[in-house]
Amino acid sequence: MTYLGIDLGTSGLRALLISGDGTPIGTSEHHYNVSHPHSGWSEQDPAQWIAALEAAMADLRAAHPAFADLRGIGVAGHMHGATLLDETGDVLRPCILWNDTRSHLEAAELDQIAGVRDLSGNIVFPGFTAPKLSWVAKHEPEIFARVAKVLLPAAYLNFYLTGAYVADMSDSAGTAWLDVGARDWSADLLAAGGMRRDQMPDLVEGSAHAGELRADLAARWGLNGPVTIAGGAGDNAAAACGIGAVAEGQGFVSLGTSGVVLAARDGYKPAPETALHTFCHAIPNRWYQMGVMLSATDSLNWLGRITGTAPRDLTAPLGETLQAPTDLRFLPYLSGERTPHNDADIRGSFTGIGADTTRDDLTRAVLEGVAFGLRDSFDALRATGATLDQLIAIGGGTGSRYWLKLIATVLGVPLSLPKGGEFGAALGAARLGMAAATGADAETLMTPPDLGDTIMPDTALRADFDAAYAKFRAAYAGIKAVQ
Ligand code: XUL
Repeated sequence: MTYLGIDLGTSGLRALLISGDGTPIGTSEHHYNVSHPHSGWSEQDPAQWIAALEAAMADLRAAHPAFADLRGIGVAGHMHGATLLDETGDVLRPCILWNDTRSHLEAAELDQIAGVRDLSGNIVFPGFTAPKLSWVAKHEPEIFARVAKVLLPAAYLNFYLTGAYVADMSDSAGTAWLDVGARDWSADLLAAGGMRRDQMPDLVEGSAHAGELRADLAARWGLNGPVTIAGGAGDNAAAACGIGAVAEGQGFVSLGTSGVVLAARDGYKPAPETALHTFCHAIPNRWYQMGVMLSATDSLNWLGRITGTAPRDLTAPLGETLQAPTDLRFLPYLSGERTPHNDADIRGSFTGIGADTTRDDLTRAVLEGVAFGLRDSFDALRATGATLDQLIAIGGGTGSRYWLKLIATVLGVPLSLPKGGEFGAALGAARLGMAAATGADAETLMTPPDLGDTIMPDTALRADFDAAYAKFRAAYAGIKAVQ
């Protein structure tokens, strides 16, 4: 029997087929675009997700005969996106994504309503789903009037796969409509946002049975038996499942489009005042906390775009030996920031540029700015009592050894690298699919990957980076004063 994990990412969909013992068999990836029709807007047409999914299924079917023995699927998705459906299940407008900050006024309004933070366990960030619907109600009332269901991106794929409206707890926790402690839609939160429970999908745990694969898809994809669809997960919870971060003391730092420092928590310990996110995990009775910065590799990609240089060609000349910080600072707030500032208006900046500043200097400053942003999240997590003595590093940015050494030094903890192979959100999702299909204990399936190199902090440079970090913190206030 085989199982499939689908990672519906911001820039593409990745599908991973695994065997019954969890061994990867094959992958397929297809990319799509994000559109930014206005500053701060970020949208995607869900039809692109379906096209990518169908193309990936065709690839896996052609390359791997074991695809026909598929028995379980789990979907992980980029979180918070508002996919609006009418009563026939048709998409009403492009999905408004997690890094879209147009609804910052609506978010601030919701965030101030008494009881909202207590029930949702979180600040209502502009990227969350509830304020997006308030924005649509205000600016696109004719669309709002036709909204029969609001689905997160992963739940939209669940709908495509099963025909049913079902979402998991970990993703739903990022809507600001879920009572995150009780793991159920909250009547009060829905009412605060002008929404109704019948507009929400049914809820299941990520590792639980959400439905069966539609017969027409099973036939078209050449499958030989019934296929269970799991509840699935938000991408960060799925990545935690992929690296076995399910219990206290386990966590990761993810260098993707967004930058995330995540700690699995045994209980529900919300700390909204820190701007940390406290969400349900994808397995029952577990939660996790994370700090999220909006522009991690996105900051380096931006520098690459404006200098006409591929990001890897920016970092390669730095070598692997960490250099002390200079007075050149970069604030990585290209799309505003969530943790720790909850500030949709702030924008990035360079300070300290001199006539002698080189492209390599700019690159180092960008890498440092992202590392300092991660430290904001890391310090906030530690202040809530999370024990993080070491972290697994994942995501596209981990290709740069210089960046890893820098982050290990700035955070003051060793970073372990998975040895290779599969360990990300797609693997976590496939494991959820396996748990749902076989009834196996989900927590037992979430094992850590084989670890390869461990990157140790450079203790000799730690004090220099502490001092630069203090200046980074102070620079935020300075930028606020002039923006
Ligand atoms: C988490 C968040 C991002 C997205 C995209 O709150 O917004 O990490 O899930 O990956």
